[in-house]
Amino acid sequence: PEPPAGTAVPQAGDPDLVLLRRVGVVDPESLDDYRANGGYSALRRALALGPAGVLREVSDSGLVGRGGAAFPTGRKWEGTARQPATPHYVVCNADESEPGTFKDRVIMEGDPFALIESMTITGYANAAEKGYLYIRGEYPRALARLENAIARARERNLLGRDILGSGFDFDIEIRRGAGAYICGEETAIFNSIEGYRGEPRSKPPFPVERGLFDRPTTINNVETLVNVLPILLMGGPAYAGIGTGRSTGPKLFCVSGTVRRPGVYEVPFGATLRELVVLAGGVEEGRELRAVLLGGAAGGFVRGDELDIPLTFEGARDAGATLGSGVVLVLDDTVDLGAILVRIAAFFRDESCGQCVPCRVGTVRQEEALQRLSAGTGARRTDIALLREVGTAMRDASICGLGQTAWNAVESAIDRLGVFAAPPDPTGRTDAADGPVGVSK
Ligand code: NAI
Ligand code: SF4
Repeated sequence: PEPPAGTAVPQAGDPDLVLLRRVGVVDPESLDDYRANGGYSALRRALALGPAGVLREVSDSGLVGRGGAAFPTGRKWEGTARQPATPHYVVCNADESEPGTFKDRVIMEGDPFALIESMTITGYANAAEKGYLYIRGEYPRALARLENAIARARERNLLGRDILGSGFDFDIEIRRGAGAYICGEETAIFNSIEGYRGEPRSKPPFPVERGLFDRPTTINNVETLVNVLPILLMGGPAYAGIGTGRSTGPKLFCVSGTVRRPGVYEVPFGATLRELVVLAGGVEEGRELRAVLLGGAAGGFVRGDELDIPLTFEGARDAGATLGSGVVLVLDDTVDLGAILVRIAAFFRDESCGQCVPCRVGTVRQEEALQRLSAGTGARRTDIALLREVGTAMRDASICGLGQTAWNAVESAIDRLGVFAAPPDPTGRTDAADGPVGVSK
C-alpha cells in the first residue's frame, strides 16, 4: 500500500536497503534486538582483521564523507592513524544543521546502536581510546536514544576496557550543541568541546594532525560512520561495486519542499534526480516542478528540465550544483524564488560567527540587496553586480565554509534560473531602474 504522506522513512522495511534497513524495524532501545538484526557483527569482523585490515577495507570501499565535502574517508583515517602524537581522538559530527538536512536524525533515532558500533570501529582503526559525539541540541529524542545505547553497550563490554577481550579500550562521551549552525564546522566543534567559543580555526593544519585538544583527530559525519558497517560486512571491494564511478555505495537523500511524500530516501549513487522525486511522490497534480535546490543552502539550483542528471558527486558538479549533505528541496511553480533567496541570505547573516570581515559584512550586504530585488525596489543591474562582487569576496576571503558558500545558491538562482532577470523590453530601451553596472557601496 501507498505510504502515508509525511512518513519520515517511506522505505522502512525494504530488504534492499543498506543504511536504513533496521530503521523502523528494530526497537531502537534494545541492544538484544540490534544484535538479533546483525548488530555488532561488523565490530567482531574488525577485531579479527586488526586496525590495518580495517583501514584497507575502508580505503578499498572508496567511501567519501557524507557531511557535504566528500573527502576520502580512508585517506582521513590513515592520516590520523599514522600520527606519532598521542592520544588520538574520534569525533562524530552529529550537529546536523544544514537547512533541509535530517538524515542523521533518522539514523540516530531509529538505529542508534549502529552509530555507537561504527564509532567503536573507527576508534579501533584510528588508534583512539576516546570518542566524542557532538549532537545538535535540537535533537532530544536522538540524544536520549544514544545515551541509552552507550549505557547498554558499556554493560555488555562493547564499550569500556578490553572490549570483547580484545585488549582494545574505547569509550564515548556525548556533548550537546546549543543551537549555533557554525558549531557543525569541524574545528568549531573542537573549540566548543574544549570550552571555548564555537568559532572555526584556520586550516591547515587539518584535524588529522592537530584537532581536538591539538591532538590527531578523525572527525566524521554520522552517515559516513554508519557506512563502515556494511563495508566491513560485505568487504571494501564489494561495497565499491555499489554506485558509479567515484561515487560509491548507498546514499541518503533528504527530500522536502513541494513533494507529496517528503522524507529520507536511500538510493545507490547513480540513480537519477527524477527517480528520487518520483519515489517521493512527485509534485501535486496540475503543478509544474520549477527547480530543485540540491545540496542545501550552500548548494545550487537545478532546473525542472534537468531532472535526468545522475545523483553522483560528478553529476551534480556537471549540473553546476553539489550533492552537499543530501538536500533535495523541490520547488513547484507556486513558490516565490525571490523570497526563498532572502530566507537563505537571512539564515547565513544570522549564523555567521562574525570572526572574519568578508562573511560578517558580506552576508548583511547580500541580504539587503536580495530584499531590495525581491521587493522590486532595487536597481536590477547594480544590485546584481553588487551581489557578484560581495559573493566573490566572501568565497575568496572567508575563513570557513559558511562564508565561502554563502553566495552559492543565490549565484545559481540568478545564472541558472534567471531569477531577477529583466523582462524583455519591446521598445528596446534600457530599464531606467537598472542604472549603471559595477557600482558598489
Ligand atoms: P573541507 O573540504 O575543508 O574538508 C572536508 C574534510 O576533509 C574535513 O574533515 C577536513 O579536515 C578534511 N581534509 C581536507 N583536506 C585534507 C587534507 N589535505 N588532509 C587531511 N584532511 C583533509 O570541508 P568542510 O569545510 O569541513 O565542510 C564543508 C562542507 O560541509 C560543505 O560541502 C557543506 O555542504 C557541508 N555542510 C554540512 C552541514 C550538515 O549539516 N551536514 C552543515 C554545513 C555545511
Ligand atoms: Fe565565522 Fe563566517 Fe568567518 Fe566562518 S566565514 S569564520 S562563519 S565569520
